[in-house]
This record gives sequence, structure tokens and C-alpha cells, in this order.
Amino acid sequence: MPSLNEVTNLDVDSRIAVLTLNSPPVNALSANVREGLHIGVKSAIENEEVEAIVIICEGRTFIAGADISEFGQEPKGPSLYEVQDMIESSPKPIVSAIHGTALGGGLEVALTCHYRIAVPSSKCGLPEVNLGLLPGAGGTQRLPRIVGAQKAMEMMTSGAHIPANQCLEMGLVDEIANEDSLLEDAVNFANQIINEKRPLVKVRDNDEKINKDRGNEELFSNFRKSIARKTRGFLAPEYNIQCVEAAVNKPFDEGIKVERELFTKLMTGSQSAAQRYAFFSERQANKVPDISKDESIKEIKKVGVIGAGTMGGGISMNFANVGIPVTIIEQNEERLERGISVMRRNYENTARKGRISENDVEKRMGLINGQTSLGSLNDCDLIIEAVFENMDLKKDIFKQLDSIAKEGAILASNTSALNVNEIAAETSRPEDVIGLHFFSPANVMRLLEIVRGEKTSKSVVASSLAIAKKINKIAAVVGVCPGFVGNRILAQRQREANKLILEGALPWEIDDALYDFGFPMGPFAMSDLAGLDIGWNKETSKGETLRDLLCEAGRLGQKSRKGFYLYDENRNKSPDPEVEQIIRDFAETRQIRLRDVTKEEILERCLYPMINEGFKILEEGMAIRASDIDVVWVYGYGWPIYEGGPMFYGSLIGFDKILEGLKQMEEKFGPDFTPSPYLERVVEEKINIFV
Ligand code: 3HC
Ligand code: NAI
Repeated sequence: MPSLNEVTNLDVDSRIAVLTLNSPPVNALSANVREGLHIGVKSAIENEEVEAIVIICEGRTFIAGADISEFGQEPKGPSLYEVQDMIESSPKPIVSAIHGTALGGGLEVALTCHYRIAVPSSKCGLPEVNLGLLPGAGGTQRLPRIVGAQKAMEMMTSGAHIPANQCLEMGLVDEIANEDSLLEDAVNFANQIINEKRPLVKVRDNDEKINKDRGNEELFSNFRKSIARKTRGFLAPEYNIQCVEAAVNKPFDEGIKVERELFTKLMTGSQSAAQRYAFFSERQANKVPDISKDESIKEIKKVGVIGAGTMGGGISMNFANVGIPVTIIEQNEERLERGISVMRRNYENTARKGRISENDVEKRMGLINGQTSLGSLNDCDLIIEAVFENMDLKKDIFKQLDSIAKEGAILASNTSALNVNEIAAETSRPEDVIGLHFFSPANVMRLLEIVRGEKTSKSVVASSLAIAKKINKIAAVVGVCPGFVGNRILAQRQREANKLILEGALPWEIDDALYDFGFPMGPFAMSDLAGLDIGWNKETSKGETLRDLLCEAGRLGQKSRKGFYLYDENRNKSPDPEVEQIIRDFAETRQIRLRDVTKEEILERCLYPMINEGFKILEEGMAIRASDIDVVWVYGYGWPIYEGGPMFYGSLIGFDKILEGLKQMEEKFGPDFTPSPYLERVVEEKINIFV
């Protein structure tokens, strides 16, 4: 095949030119790819023999978008706009042939082609919003012209990947090819276009779908309302909507101007920088420096879960969702039945929302086999213990598993904070023992902390990473220390939040500050949700802490309709003067003078020690890299992704400022704020912790 450059080939066979891109892993629109497209289309247009052009990709996918790793660098070679102009204004029809995913800039290139053909398994989408961006290569103006304003806003603000059959229905693709003969079918389609003298369709000229929405402000205000809760704090969804508004209300070229202006604003802002960082961090977290890509991976055909409580049930569902059978063990039939009925109810709720079918419910439940004897786990490839957080109980279970589990099985604990090395030491095979720390609700939360014990084998770590991918989790490998990475950092925030109450900040002021920062919920609303009486004992309670006092007053949290807050019948919370009084009385008996605490102080007091703890974790080698800490906090604890995570956020503030702030707080409030020596070194030696 005649090569145009390293990543593109042009082949002319009778009257069809086939331009093939081959730029692994995802044919992103790097300078090389843009150059290849530019030269290829130009020379096909100039070639008199050629009557139509097919653009197709090698490898796993059609163009998956702009090359994100080039963002922020000096632009090289032809711009994407130049490439698109050349394609759209070609006097010869151009067909894009899609497999895998046509995403972002990839779909935007396809939308400048005159026709699109796709295999049934392929998907199209404009996922820029997930990178804090909007489609910046005409997508915001062309998509509404094909699918209408409403659908375009849905696609652009969700970033959804739309299956080929739906794309066909919406007019986003013109033809569906056979799964295994895309090239042949695309060439036949191109021949058909020539034979039938079909027009050179330019999406930009087609206003039919958007005319009806011109001046319809309600359409946009309703849409804004419908996504407000989900997109709180994010800039990109709003800017995407404004582009569609421009598409509907302005001529194409004016709309493009709006798109470019808003794209530049997002691209140069901190939200997109954080979201792009999160994209690469998530993928980087899968790489463990001392474990090679060829490490042997254990095949997981059957999973065992011990404990059918809050976590065990959710964990089991993850495996059933991907077709892996699960044996779940409980202490007795009654608890087993209760656990299994919770799983069924969860699936049925999902089916009611239309996300899975009734048939899926039965299929998934059919994969879950409840038992009451650990002996039933003897044929499992992976066993995950999720019993009460009690070291003696866990040790006993692992001792038993040692004699039950088959050779080579992975033995995992879902402990939130206990020492995995100690648990592993109960077995004769500590190399097979690992922590797999899921987050509640385990069937929903994306994070999996993989806790690598001192003796855990490389193969068990690599296999755990592979399992995480299989069940659609985002994994980060962490070391054994109390609370691992996530809960260890959480403890810092919790401690400060509790202290702040006894200095004068009210629970809702602290919650509001953190909610406004972008967390889904503040620590006190969270405590109310979990129940204030976890670990509290009525018999021994002596009113020594605020929590004691609240529980003694029957304020157990949401379940008793009052805790730190008051709850109405729909669980809507409101501040309660009674709580304020309890706090004031408590402070008075302890001779504490309450003062005004500003929102800024609340944030610094809660967030700076978290960042400081991150540095301690890095110094101790409990996380592989700073970005892994951010992955844990974004996907496990709801740190707003547009703030990148504690370490990224710290870098935005400036580590020198964080250090200074910690020193000042140390002086006022003591050693809880003593800066990590590693943070001091990073500031002093200007070390970049993100490389
Ligand atoms: N640019 C640069 N690198 C990319 C990339 C992109 N657009 N998309 C994926 N990659 C890299 C990943 O970083 C990863 O690298 P690694 O192996 O070194 O870690 C590798 O490609 C494979 O990616 P995944 O592990 O994610 O592979 P999957 O097969 O699971 O998923 C995918 C493939 C669905 C294409 C997924 O990678 C993805 O969603 N990519 C991002 C798509 C996207 O957001 N496109 C829009 C870009 S912005 C844009 O186009 C702006 C335009 O409007 C102007
Ligand atoms: P839970 O109390 O809801 O469930 C524990 C279950 O284990 C109970 O149903 C109990 O009957 C069962 N069990 C106890 N001993 C057993 C035995 N010998 N054999 C079989 N089953 C037995 O507890 P939860 O919340 O599910 O926690 C389980 C583990 O997960 C704990 O280690 C906890 O720290 C950890 N975890 C909990 C999270 C949460 O948010 N609840 C989050 C992440 C981890």
C-alpha cells in the first residue's frame, strides 16, 4: 500500500481511493494523522482516476478524537479545521467507514464527510464534556443539524457513546455494514453513490432539523433544569448547551465562532486541565512499575463472597453483572435470604428504571448461589471476604479458607482499614492474599483500592487489576497502612470537621462549605446517612462527646428523622436549632468560647491536612504516584473531578501556599498540621510530583 507518512496509506483501486489511518492505540488526531489525512484527501482529489474516497482505520477503532496528549503544546502541521475544510469541500464524495468508536474530533471528521457507513458494533459520540470541553471542530454546529437540538444536547452533555443502530435511526450514519467486511461494504457504498450520482451532502447546509427550534428558549431552559443536579459545579455542560443554542439561532459560520470562543475558554481553564489529568491518571493507575505487562493473569471463572451484608451483596452483583457465577456465604439461612433479597430488589429497581430487562434480572440472580458453609468455596478462583470489621473474625475465616480454597485461588479481604499482612499471615499462602477494598454501594461506586500486602505475588496484583477492568471498576494499587489511602485521608477531614464544630462552625456551615466546593455531601450529612449510632453503645454512653449527646437525645441520623439535621418525610434535611443548642451547652460545660469561622477557614482546615496526608502517603510509598491518590479520592469519595483530586488541587493552590498554611495552622492548633517533610522538600527543591 503506498504510504503517505508513518500513519496513513492511500490505495487507489479503479475509481475508489481508500485512505487508511493506522496510528495505535486509538487513531487519535495527532499531527501525523492530520497531515496524512490532509495529503491523502488532497492527492485523491487531484487524481483523475479517483471518483470517490473512503476514509477507514486499522486497529481497534476509528478515530477516537483529538490527541489529548498534544493539548497545550505548540500546534504542528495542518490544523483539524484545514483537514475538515478539504474533506467537506471535496468535489468527490467522501465516505467515512466506522468501526470501534468515532468519538470527539473523530466523529467531527466523519461529519464533514459526505456519507458515513458503520459496522453494527461501532459507536459514535461527542464525549468532550468528560474532559471539561466541548466539541471544538464544528461538532456543536453539525450534530444538531442531523439529530436536532434536544438529542444533540443530550449527547453532548452526557458524552454518551451511541450504538450504530441508533445512529442509523438518527441519521448520524447512512448505512450499516457487515461486521466483518467494512472495507468491502464501504467501497461498494462509494460505488453506489457514484452510480446513483448522489449529492455531496454537506451537513453544515442542512438547517431543516433546527429551524423548528429557533427562538424556543423553553427548550433550553427545560434542558438546563433537567441536568442541573448532575452537572452542578461543571462549566462544560453549560457551554455545550450555549453552542447548541447558537447552532439553532445563528447561521453556521456565526455558530462556529461561538464554538471556538467557548472551546478556548474551556481549554485554557482549570476544570478541563483537571479532567484531562483525571483521564490519564485513571489509566496510569493500572500500571505498577515492578509488574510487567506479561505478568501471568489468573483466569477468574468463579467467585466466592463471604458475608451477604451491605458490601458482600454489592460486590457479588459486580460479578453477576458480567456473567461470572458467585457463591455467597452467610452465617445462617435467615441472613442469607435477607442478603439475597436485597440484591434482587436492587436489580428489580434497576429494571424498573429501564436500565436492564426483567430477563437480565433473572439471568443475574441465577448466577448467585447462596450457601451457609465456607466449604462450598472450594472451586472458586477468587474469594472475597466481606464479614464484620473484626480482626479475630477475619483471621479465623482466612485460616479456614487456607484449607478449603483450591491451589492458586486469590484470597481477598474487603477490610476498610485492617492490616492485610496480619490477615495473610494466618494462611500458608500469603502470596495469594490481597485486599480488594470496594466502596459502598459496591455495585455502583467505581473505585477499587487494591491493597498489596508485603508478600502478595505480582501475579495476584496483576490479576486483581484485570478483574477490576472486567467488572468496570477503576483501580488503584495501595500499600498496607491503617485506612490505606482513601480512609486514611478521610480521617484527616473528619477530625478537622469535628474539631471545627467545637470552635464555633455549625455542622451545616461545614457541610455547605464542602458541598459548595463540589463534594456530593458534607461529613455531617454523611454521618446522618450512615447512622450516628454505629459503634455507639446506649448502656455505656456518658455524654462525653457530641455524638453521645445526639444519640442520647434519640438523634440517630436519617433513620430516626433527626441527627445533625432534621429530616422531613422525603428525607429533605434542614438545620435544627436544637442541635445548635446542644452544641452551645456542650461548649459551655467545657468552657469553650465559640467564635465565627469563615467558609475559607473551613475549607483550609479540612482540605490542607488531606493534602499533607497525601504527601506522607507518598513518602511512605503507600501510593505509587500522586495521581493514584487523586484517582482514589475522585472515584471513591466524590472529590469533584473538575478539581482533579487533593494532590492536583494542592498544585493549583500552590504547594508553597499549602505549606505556609499548614505551618500557620500548626502554630495555632498544634501537631495535626505539622507539614510532611516530603512536602517541605517538594517546595524547597521545586520537585514536580506528577512525573
Ligand atoms: N488522545 C490520546 N490518547 C488517547 C486518546 C486520545 N483521544 N484516547 C485514548 N488514548 C490512549 C489512552 O490514554 C490509553 O493509553 P495507554 O495505553 O498509554 O494508557 C490508550 O489510548 C488506550 O485507551 P483506553 O485504555 O481508554 O482503551 P479502551 O479501549 O478502554 O477505550 C476509548 C478506548 C473508548 C477510545 C477511550 O480511550 C476513550 O474514551 N478515549 C477518549 C475519547 C475522547 O474523549 N475523545 C475526545 C477527545 S477531545 C476532542 O476530540 C476535541 C475535539 O472536539 C476538537
Ligand atoms: P455488614 O454488617 O453489612 O455485613 C457483614 C455480613 O457478614 C453480615 O451479614 C454477617 O452476617 C456476615 N458474617 C459475619 N460473620 C460471618 C461468617 N463467619 N460467615 C459468613 N458471614 C458472616 O457489614 P459491611 O458494611 O458489609 O462490611 C463488611 C466489610 O466490608 C467490613 O470489613 C467493612 O469494614 C468493609 N467495608 C464496609 C464499607 C461500608 O461502607 N459498609 C465500605 C468498604 C468496606
